[in-house]
This record gives sequence, C-alpha cells and structure tokens, in this order.
Amino acid sequence: MEMKDKIREKFKTLYGTEGEVFASAGRVNLIGEHTDYNGGYVFPGAIDKGIMAEIKLNGTQKVKAFSLDYDEYVEFGLNEEDKPQQQWARYIFGVCRETIKRGGKVEGFNTVFAGDVPLGAGLSSSAALESTFAFAINELNGNKIDKFELAKIGQSTEHNYCGVNCGIMDQFASIFGQKGKLILLNCKTLEYKYYPFDPKGYKLVLIDSCVKHELASSAYNKRRQSCENAAKAIKANHPEVEYLSDAKRVWLEEVRGKISSEDFLRAEYVIGEVQRVLDVCDALERGDYEIVGEMMYQTHFGLSKLYEVSCEELDFLNDLARKCGVTGSRVMGGGFGGCTINLVKEDLYDGFLEAVKEQFPAKFGHEYKVYDVVISDGSRRVE
Ligand code: GLA
Repeated sequence: MEMKDKIREKFKTLYGTEGEVFASAGRVNLIGEHTDYNGGYVFPGAIDKGIMAEIKLNGTQKVKAFSLDYDEYVEFGLNEEDKPQQQWARYIFGVCRETIKRGGKVEGFNTVFAGDVPLGAGLSSSAALESTFAFAINELNGNKIDKFELAKIGQSTEHNYCGVNCGIMDQFASIFGQKGKLILLNCKTLEYKYYPFDPKGYKLVLIDSCVKHELASSAYNKRRQSCENAAKAIKANHPEVEYLSDAKRVWLEEVRGKISSEDFLRAEYVIGEVQRVLDVCDALERGDYEIVGEMMYQTHFGLSKLYEVSCEELDFLNDLARKCGVTGSRVMGGGFGGCTINLVKEDLYDGFLEAVKEQFPAKFGHEYKVYDVVISDGSRRVE
C-alpha cells in the first residue's frame, strides 16, 4: 500500500473522518555546508522523499497526533508549556507554539503522519516534519504567514524545543524546493535563485554510512559557537563583519593568536567554503562538472580536517569515491555520520557501487544504504 493510503486508512480508523493531506521534502545540498548560520551561501534542493500528513481541525485546543512510523499516539494542549516526551511530537508542538508566537491562529487538530526520508541520515527528516506542519497549519487556519517565516518557524522549533542552533537551510529547502532545480540561497540577505540541475551524463547518488552520532546536536552547537567567536574577534579589527562569511582569509590571519586554534580551524573552513559555493555556481553556468566535483572534494577535506564533522566511515567512502574516479564526493549535511553525496559519471556508477558493496561492510561490519537523488517539489497540498 502507498504511504498516502496507509495514512488515510489510519486517520479514518482513529478519528472517523477525513482530513486534508500535506507533504514536505527532505533535502540534499550540493555544496555550502555549515555556511548558513555564518551568513554564507548554500545550494540545496528538495528530494522525492519526505513527510506526509493528513490533518483536520477539530474545534478544540488539543492536538491529537499519530505517528505511523513509530506506531505511537500523543495528545497535547496548545496552551501547555511542557513539551511532549516523544521527540517527534516535540517538533509538532514547537511548530504550533512558534506559529502562535508570531500571531498566527492555531486551532487544535487531528493528524496521522508518516515519512520515507531516512532518519538521522543527514537528509533533514526533522525539517520535513516541521515544514509539513508549519505549512499545513498556515493553510488550514487561514494565516497568511509567508514562506520564509514558515521556514523560520521550523528553525525556531529546532532552537527552542530541540536544542539544535541550526541555520535556515533545511527548512528553506524543504519549503521552497522545486522539481529539477537546486536553489542558491544567500543566508544573510535571504535572496535566492533557482538553478535547473540536470547534469547530462552524471548521476547524483547518496551513500548512507548508517552511522548516527548521539551527541551530534551539542557538537553542532559547539561548531557554531567557534564561528561566532572567530567572527567577533575579526569584527574588532573590521567592524563591517557581521557574520563570519563577511571576513576575508587575511583578516582571519590577523587574529590567529587571539582565538583558540580550534576556532581558527573552524573559521578557516567556513571562509573557504563560502568561496567554493560561488565557484561552483560559475562552474555550473559553464557546465564544468569537473570543477564542481573538485570543489566537493575540497569541501570534504575541510569538513573532515578543519571542521572535524566527518567520521571514519565517511572518510573511507570519500577516499573510495576518489579511487573509483567519482567526479565529486563529500559528507553532506551537519555531519558526524549520515551520507556522502556523490557526483558520478554514468559509466562509472555501477563500478563505484560495486566497490562500496565489496569494501564497506567488510571493513566496518555494518550495512550502508544507497539513495538515488531526484530533485523534487517542496511543501505542498497533496490532492
Ligand atoms: C544541519 C543544519 C543546517 C546546516 C547544516 C550544515 O543540517 O540543520 O542548518 O547548518 O547542518 O550545513
């Protein structure tokens, strides 16, 4: 049975009625990692995997929610301060509270939802969940909150209810995604541009290391703090620096002795990455995928050695990609596990996957997964 039919069936059984169906996407990011909270560029796209929810307003102040994937039911009041125990319910709770904070109307509702975006793989399953509810609540209550603000509702949910001080990339991509297009977003000005992405003769494939790091959120917040420390030190000499992405490499050099060597390395990565995104845009306009790929490898090096958000499995996959002649490869998303994103010539695709199959489980003794990427639409009402 299709996901939508399963959702509809459960909704009918639980609540005896029918609601409306909404969906939002997970995301990939071609390049521009850990640049969003530094005011830099990102280059994501929505994918054909995400979260789908059936929802109907229930005329009360209560939310009744069922997660098909966890086979769990949760109820919470819209005026309660205490967040629910279940992590998945916290996202919905947070979205409701953040909508109310922005003056939006939120009536209680019944919902059943499910997803096909792998959890903890760096594909932003949580952003897909937040965006689905932010979008649906906005539509069903007739609030006229714009799409950027909906993305910020998801982002604030992460900050205030889930302890992750994330940037705007994931929620933005999940909501703004368009079929066949990547989106270049300037995270400082919030200007964005769609780029048709159909590299002839190449495939985009994700290899999921199936590594999930428990402490990812505190390590993530620590990286962000390092960047802010570096930006602050540079600002003392160059007041125009609002975000780390405003800084030049030489300005970082000036504060070498004034910040910790760890903060220095983190900042070195970010300043390089901001430039790489722009180089990739130029290369895409010329159709030069070799340069795109080379930038991806450079990003991996930076994420692994300077930003230190890779792990043994992801470094191995990256090395193997290079050995197999894969055009570009890097760890994608926040890191500390999850996927590598690989730009592979079609005629090398089978050989690469064969090599992963032979070598990865033998070395690490656990499974991995392969996802072909289809760039798809973001938040929408499902007919
Ligand atoms: C996570 C965060 C994003 C972004 C990436 C790294 O996915 O949610 O905001 O910072 O990590 O690029």
